[in-house]
Order: sequence, then C-alpha cells, then structure tokens
Amino acid sequence: MLFAPVRESFVTQPKVVLAYSGGLDTSVAIPWLRESKGTDVIAVTVDVGQPVDLERVRAKAERSGALRAYVADARAEFAEEFLLPALRANALYEGIYPLSTALARPLIARHLVAVARTEGARFVAHGCTGKGNDQVRFDLSTTGLAPELEVLAPAREWGMTREEEIAYAEAHGIPVEATKSSPYSTDENLWGRSVECGILEDPAVEPPEEAFGWTCAPAAAPDRAEYVQILFEEGRPVALNGRHLPLHELIATLNRTAGAHGVGRIDHLESRVVGIKSREVYECPAAAVLISAHQALESLVLPRDLLDFKRTVEQRYAQLVYDGLWYTPLRESLDTFVGSTQGRVSGEVAMKLYKGSARVVGRRSPNALYQAALATYSSGDAFRRQMAEGFIYVWGLPARTWAAVGAQARPTERPTVPAPGA
Ligand code: ARG
Repeated sequence: MLFAPVRESFVTQPKVVLAYSGGLDTSVAIPWLRESKGTDVIAVTVDVGQPVDLERVRAKAERSGALRAYVADARAEFAEEFLLPALRANALYEGIYPLSTALARPLIARHLVAVARTEGARFVAHGCTGKGNDQVRFDLSTTGLAPELEVLAPAREWGMTREEEIAYAEAHGIPVEATKSSPYSTDENLWGRSVECGILEDPAVEPPEEAFGWTCAPAAAPDRAEYVQILFEEGRPVALNGRHLPLHELIATLNRTAGAHGVGRIDHLESRVVGIKSREVYECPAAAVLISAHQALESLVLPRDLLDFKRTVEQRYAQLVYDGLWYTPLRESLDTFVGSTQGRVSGEVAMKLYKGSARVVGRRSPNALYQAALATYSSGDAFRRQMAEGFIYVWGLPARTWAAVGAQARPTERPTVPAPGA
C-alpha cells in the first residue's frame, strides 16, 4: 500500500463531539450522527468516578465508528470544583436529593466544549432523551460556555424504541451487552447512583433490593455500629478517622464504608424541570454522611441569623444546580456568599453508621460558639440570669401591647337595620 490508511476524510466533514458513556444510546448515536448529519464523531468519556472500564469504553467508541475517542480523568476536578461547593452549600434538591447526576453535567459539558475547540468542531452532542433534566443541563451548560456551538441530541430526534436501537446497533456491528436486559436506567458518579425505570415507575411500590447497587439492605447491615470521624477545614472534609485524603478519594472511601451500613438510600418523588413528576431512587452514602456532618459543624460555629439566611441560599442553590444553571452569574454569586461563610467551619464531627442510618453523635471545633460556661446548668455558670427579666420585658413589648389593645377593643357597633315595613 502506498499510503497508510487515514480515517480522517479528505473532504472535510463537520465534526461533532459526543458525550460518550459506552451504553447503548450513545453507541447508537455514533453511526446515527454520521449517517443522518454527515458528521465525523469525536467521542469524549469523562471519568467522574463511575465504575466502568474506561479503556473498554474508549475502544467501543472507536468500534462504533468514532473518528477519535478521548477519555478524561476528571475525578479530582469534579470533587474540587463541583462537589465541594455543593457540600459547602449543603445542596439538597427538594430537601433530599444531593444532586449527584445534576452536578456532573456541567463538568462533562466543559470537557465537550474544550475538545470541540481543539478539534474545531461545530457541534456537541449528548444521548439524553427529550423528557429529562439532563438534556436541559447539557444544552444550557454548553450555551453558557460556548454560545457559538450547536447542540445535537440524537435520542431526542430519532424516535427509535429500545428494540429498534438494538437492531440498529447490531446492523452496525456495535456489541450489545447481555447486561442490557436490566429494566433500570442508572447513572453513577462519585456523589451517587441514580436509578429509575422498571418497577420504580410505580411510586406506590417499594423499591426491590435488586435496584440497589452501592448499598447493603439496612436489615442485612452489620449488627455493630461503625463510627467515622470527619475532619473539616473551612467547610472542606480533609480527613477520615485521622487519615488525610484527597477529596475524591475521601468521598470514594466513604461511599464504601457508609454503603456497607445501608446508608444513603433515597426514594424521591421528584419534580423535573420539564414539568414531569418522576420517581427516582438514589444511593448517595458519602453525600448523606458529609452533608449531615457539615450541617452539624455549621450549627456549632455559625450564629443563628447566618445559619437561617444560609438555608434560604442553599435551597435556591440546589434548585439552580438541578435546573442546569451552573454557568450563570447567580450561581457564581451564591458560591461567593457560601464561600464567605466557611472560614470558621473547621473541626471534627463523629458520625455513627448503623443499619441504614448515619447520625451525628459528636462535634468539636476551636471556633465553637457553644460555650460551656454559658450553656451549663451546673456550677460555673457565667450567664447573667438577672438580665433575662429585662430582656424578656423589652423583647415581648410589641406582643404585650398588641394583646392589651385587643382586650380593650369593642366590636364596632352594628348599624341598626330598619325593621321590615318600618
Ligand atoms: N433525576 C435525576 C436528576 O435529574 C437523575 C437523572 C438520571 N437518572 C438515571 N437514572 N439515568 O438529576
């Protein structure tokens, strides 16, 4: 042969950078984009801690017809730039979902945009359907970072059923794994595992054990409780049981420890951005433990009004992340506020893991506002009790005045209604 085979076509085709997971949808998307859009496909797989063999995923992208396939290890970046701000904000959507899937989307989009720029691509693509939140997050994150790029969503367009997708994959030489018989749709990263579909679509039915992958059934968890000491520095967890670890490793370790005690199972009847109510089950052992511990430490070191105002910010923050608005000035400003509250959030929290629960059982900090001499009912009390009476008189003055005026008030005299015929 005179020339080595070159896969890049000489007639330049437009390029699309596809977020590639290695699953059926994104694998089918490769030949589908080439055939329907006439584009070359560059696959990008971002490692956010999902338990998959990334080298196999990369090879599968190429086998499915990708021109090139990139894999990026983004675990540390995910932990530092997305999970840490969310933890400092105690971010829980609708009060219970730690936003594991939602937080990974803007990070993946950032990688897609970076590759699109080096490759000179005009498009980015993802495998989301038209009914979920993730399409919103990918589309808005891409727009927020690179308004010049166009987003393609093959699965939103092609209208194939699952069976048709499998047939399409087989016709294009894409291996369809046997494990695809699972009725569940899952998404995993360092901050948690999301599970939906199958029997979970009936919100009246308890999730069957087989739906869980990271957590032990609470009843089958060890009969002995396990204690975990978490050391925080300025709102950042830095050590587990005295062992200093990079944040992403600390989270991965805690997922295993707490998961083995059945901690972190969440059954959420969720309000999606697109207006649909859906039922999703989550397993977020590390997130559950860290958020509780972080809240407990904040209660010890932050004053009441700051805690109260921060709760309002936290709710708004969680909703904004859920809604796909990561790359917005509001998120940046809220992060600045939250960051400014964390300077004293240092100390240690003891958590007790036992049969599905993670309870705060102890906390200490050099910045504690808890002062034994003020709180104690025993000897050594430094609180000036005699001041309480005057304080209560002044504090209660508006209520006292209101009540006193109310007691004197007479009902306004009824207008006399003339008797009929008068
Ligand atoms: N409902 C969750 C969210 O919007 C997770 C979505 C992905 N879930 C899944 N099972 N694939 O963040």
